[in-house]
Amino acid sequence: MKGLKLDAPRGEYQLVDDLPEPSPGPNQLLVKPIYGSINPVDELMRNSGLLIVSWPWTPCCDVAGTVVKVGDNVTKFKAGDQVFGCQGLGFPGSGGAAEYCLFREDLALRKPEDVPLAAAASIGVGSETAAMGVWVGLNIQLPDPQNLPATSDEWVFILGGGGNVGAYAVQLAKLSGYKVIASVSSRSVQSAIAAGADETVDYKDSVDSQIAKIKAVTKGGLHRIFDATSFNKPIVEKLLESTKDEPGQKYFTTVNNWDDFSDLPGSPQVHLISLGPVAREDAEHAELNASVSKAVVVIEQLLALGKLIVNEYVVADDTGFEAFTAGTKLQSTKAAKKVVVKFQSE
Ligand SMILES: NC(=O)c1ccc[n+]([C@@H]2O[C@H](COP(=O)([O-])OP(=O)(O)OC[C@H]3O[C@@H](n4cnc5c(N)ncnc54)[C@H](OP(=O)(O)O)[C@@H]3O)[C@@H](O)[C@H]2O)c1
Repeated sequence: MKGLKLDAPRGEYQLVDDLPEPSPGPNQLLVKPIYGSINPVDELMRNSGLLIVSWPWTPCCDVAGTVVKVGDNVTKFKAGDQVFGCQGLGFPGSGGAAEYCLFREDLALRKPEDVPLAAAASIGVGSETAAMGVWVGLNIQLPDPQNLPATSDEWVFILGGGGNVGAYAVQLAKLSGYKVIASVSSRSVQSAIAAGADETVDYKDSVDSQIAKIKAVTKGGLHRIFDATSFNKPIVEKLLESTKDEPGQKYFTTVNNWDDFSDLPGSPQVHLISLGPVAREDAEHAELNASVSKAVVVIEQLLALGKLIVNEYVVADDTGFEAFTAGTKLQSTKAAKKVVVKFQSE
C-alpha cells in the first residue's frame, strides 16, 4: 500500500507504494485514514527514534477515517463507520500516513454527525492526553456526560491552558465540576478562555506575581496542578512550597515524563502522563489502555452532546501523505494551533 516511511532516525520521510497492508486482529479495525493531524511527538520520534519499536516507521498517530474491515470479535463498529482518535505510535500497522492503519476497537471514537471529519482528526491525542491528566493524574472522577456535576469551589491550575492538550484539559476539568485557572501567554489567552478557563495568569510574568495571583484567586481551594507544557518545574515547586501547609492531599500531573518529580514540596501525588505506548497489546500497557478506553467513551459522548468543543485547527493547503512534511513545518511556525492534513479522498 501507499504511505510514508522512514528507515532510521533523522531522515526525511519517503513516499512509497510497497508498505505491507496491515490485517486487523480479532479486536481491531482496519481504517482508511482520510485526515491526520500533527503532534509534537511526530518530530520527537523522527529525530530520536523514541517509541519506534520496528523500522521502517510510518508517522501520524492522530487520524480520522473510514472503517474498511473489522476483526471477528468487533461489535461496536462496522465497515463504513467513521472513526477517529489516537490509534497508536511506532508499532507495525499504527502509522496514519498510509492507505490503511489499525485501531483497537476500544480506543476508537465514533465521529459525531455534526463534527467534520477534518476536525475529528485534530481531537484524539490532545483530548486523550488531557483526559489522562485530569481523570487519572488529578484523581478527578469521570463525569456522566448526560448529567454533569455542578461546579465546586475546588480549583485546578493548568499550565499552558491555551495549548492543544491544555485547552482540552481546561474543558475536561470544567466539565468535571472544577474551576480552572490557566497559565497562558497573550497569544494563547483566547484559547484558554474559549475552553472555559475562569481565570488566567500570564506565564511571562514573574513567578512570584503569578503565584500571588493564583493564591488570591483560589483562596485555599487549589489542590490540583496540571502542567500541559513540560517547561514549568520551577513555578510548580515554588507554588507547592508556598501552599504546603494548607490542608488536603495535593495532586500534580504533567506531560513531562522524563524529569524527576519525586521530591516536590508538600508530597503531592504525582502522575507522569505517558500516552506514547497506548494501543500496544502487551500486559505492561494493559492499565494504560484500560484508562484510555474508559476516557474515550466519555470524550465521545461529550462531543456527541456538544458539551466538548473542538479546539481551533486548520487544514493544510497541501494534500496527500507527503503533505505531512509541509504540515509539520506549518505546525512548527506556531501560526496555527493545530494542523490537519488531508491524506486521501473518502
Ligand atoms: N506525555 C505525553 O504522553 C504527551 C502526550 C501529548 C503531548 N505531550 C507533550 O505535551 C506538550 C504540549 O503539547 P501540545 O500538543 O498541547 O502543544 P501546543 O499546542 O504547542 O501547546 C503548547 C503550549 O505551551 C504553552 N507554553 C509554552 N511555554 C510555556 C510556559 N513556560 N508556561 C506555560 N505555558 C507555556 C504555549 O503557549 P503560547 O502559545 O502562548 O506560547 C502553548 O500554548 C508537548 O511538549 C508534547 O510533546 C506529551
